[in-house]
Amino acid sequence: MTWAIRPAAPADVPGIAALEQRAFATDRFNARQLRYLFTRARATALIAGDATAPLGYAVALYRRGAASARLYTIAVAAAARGKGVATALVDAIATAARARGCAALTLEVRADNSAAHQLYRKLGFVESGHLPGYYEDGAEALRMRLELAGISAARSTHLAPNLR
Ligand SMILES: CC(C)(COP(=O)(O)OP(=O)(O)OC[C@H]1O[C@@H](n2cnc3c(N)ncnc32)[C@H](O)[C@@H]1OP(=O)(O)O)[C@@H](O)C(=O)NCCC(=O)NCCS
Repeated sequence: MTWAIRPAAPADVPGIAALEQRAFATDRFNARQLRYLFTRARATALIAGDATAPLGYAVALYRRGAASARLYTIAVAAAARGKGVATALVDAIATAARARGCAALTLEVRADNSAAHQLYRKLGFVESGHLPGYYEDGAEALRMRLELAGISAARSTHLAPNLR
């Protein structure tokens, strides 16, 4: 599987909206929200893709004056899981956030999403809080945090040249 990570563009919205529908049971982004994230938000929006289709995507948001970025969403197509796509996306987001001067990357994850927990723990995130009733269906979120100081800019091997 040959793939690379590149910035998201409006043309990616239909493919990512379809991926989003399949990847999440609740709290999904619709096409309008994705278009905003890919074009207007203070954000880094990245696509992992091969020549034919998006394999995954991730978005980080930045708040003016904030020392941390927030990993707002990440999903990988079922057929592409277990091959390091999410790892590469998080590494690329962390590299981009550090380049913007952020000291940390934070996120919220469903307390019952063990695959995502293991991904984030493996990448060095630590739990920093619990948010009861955070999701549409009442599920609890865990808040996690990654300090960016120790992240090497060379860690992302799948970055498109313009993102390195
Ligand atoms: C969670 C998700 C993004 C992982 O994507 P992925 O590309 O398969 O992840 P990677 O291949 O980079 O896996 C890296 C590590 O994460 C952990 N991991 C990933 N999937 C896992 C699973 N199903 N069960 C247990 N651990 C898992 C493992 O530690 C893995 O390392 P290993 O391969 O050495 O065991 C993907 O399963 C997904 O899109 N799920 C649905 C959407 C979602 O839950 N997003 C996260 C919202 S917070």
